Amino acid sequence: MRGFIRMVTADQAIQTADPSNIVIFGAAGDLSKRKLIPALVRMMCCGLVHSDSRILGVLRNRSRQEWLDQLRAGLQEFSPHIEMDDDKWQRFSSCLKIVDGDLDDETMYQRLAESLETLGGTKNAMFYCAIPPAWYGKVAKGLRNAGLVHEDEGYRRLVIEKPFGSDLETASALNTELQAVFDENQIYRIDHYLGKESVQNLLVYRFANSIMEPLWNRNYIDHIQISASETLGIEYRAKYYDHSGALRDMIQSHLMQMMTLVAMEPPVEFTADAVRDEKMKVLRAVRRFEPEQIKKQTVSAQYASGTINNEQVSAYVAEENVSPDSATETFAAVRFYIDNWRWQGVPFILWSGKRMKSKVSEVMIRFRKPPFNLFDSHASVPAANALVFRLQPEGGIVLRLNAKKPGLTTDNEEMVMHAPYAADAEEVADAYEILMHDVLTGDRTLFSRSDEIEESWSIVEPILDAWKDRVSIERYRAGTWDIPDMDELTSDCVGGWHKPSIYD
Ligand code: BG6
Repeated sequence: MRGFIRMVTADQAIQTADPSNIVIFGAAGDLSKRKLIPALVRMMCCGLVHSDSRILGVLRNRSRQEWLDQLRAGLQEFSPHIEMDDDKWQRFSSCLKIVDGDLDDETMYQRLAESLETLGGTKNAMFYCAIPPAWYGKVAKGLRNAGLVHEDEGYRRLVIEKPFGSDLETASALNTELQAVFDENQIYRIDHYLGKESVQNLLVYRFANSIMEPLWNRNYIDHIQISASETLGIEYRAKYYDHSGALRDMIQSHLMQMMTLVAMEPPVEFTADAVRDEKMKVLRAVRRFEPEQIKKQTVSAQYASGTINNEQVSAYVAEENVSPDSATETFAAVRFYIDNWRWQGVPFILWSGKRMKSKVSEVMIRFRKPPFNLFDSHASVPAANALVFRLQPEGGIVLRLNAKKPGLTTDNEEMVMHAPYAADAEEVADAYEILMHDVLTGDRTLFSRSDEIEESWSIVEPILDAWKDRVSIERYRAGTWDIPDMDELTSDCVGGWHKPSIYD
């Protein structure tokens, strides 16, 4: 079984969370099946979730047994690496209870409160909203009306998934709605990228190595590319995605969060507010877009049909529930500038696309070119160095340096050094394990604060405005890097558009 095991056996001081009532709204939904339940199974097996904890699924029209059968089938389908014999399943499922009812039914919250009372034991509760965002505010109010918000005898924490709003106005309205019920310190806004071990490792590389800091600025860095390319299409999510598009879905959230981690100053300590204060300063320094710059500073495109892994895939507009005239972008790129002493003039190019050639997420730091070519008799101009933080599929770092070619000349060639993060990728903990453990132990460092969310929406707002009424969009063939505008967007960047491939 993979997951926290590696960390536990590595003899680290992992905190077993205090017993808790883990309440999942949307317990029969996709997120629960694919991510939350597998993570909880692993955490319970490793003793990270206290054995006196309970998981209460809020469901509709389903018996407890039907829910259990569905979860077990989900484990087999989505997490086949988890060994689950009947004994283990009995032990795990004995912690699972249900509360039947609709999210807009006030009596359901009363029944939830009664169940928690009847079960006895801990008063701690984590309320996980694995439901569409339109329900977040209603759930918060329902919990308040049932007296489930105050932390008299135990903690009460609300966990919210992305998307958090669809623009600045809706995000601020949601913040206001939630903060009218919960204190900001009780709200955990998940960005699952921050839960990836490889992403946290980026902070360790930056702040636990003294060789990084002197180079980490405009004097040595030409530009930075932060990317997430995917081979998957939109699967069954057309209703959400067609109103979202890649800018909202990936750039405003995951990739801008990555940008803050790459660009922030060292925090005074590794605590939630110290880290989030530094991230916030980065967002405040991001240069705002004037409407006339948007065309030059952004790229958007949509996938047409093509072939991925030898399989024919259809065009975005041919996906179920997508209108044939849809101009929603499935690829987006934005060129940001951060106007502060460290980063003035350094482009940060964030891009993400669906149905691309490979699934890779990375941060590529491209250094300036060597000032001149000392070895000019035979050699070509040495390439600019690059440091790549590979976040997935296999985390690690890659450093591209120039070295002498074997032989009698001083010709040089690029040498690629690769250091994987973990010898066995299967051992790396899943983001949801890390994040749920953090909620249970009250560590908010990896969760977005309300001001970060609003600031990032305000930065992309002019782009959303510029794109909202378009009626047509450039196309790219699925399974390719065939987006010509990207070369233009990166034309003055050393090395141009960096299309990731395995370890180069
Ligand atoms: C989600 C987006 O937040 O992240 C999806 O809504 C996207 O569209 C997913 O596919 C990517 O996550 P990961 O962990 O697979 O890179």
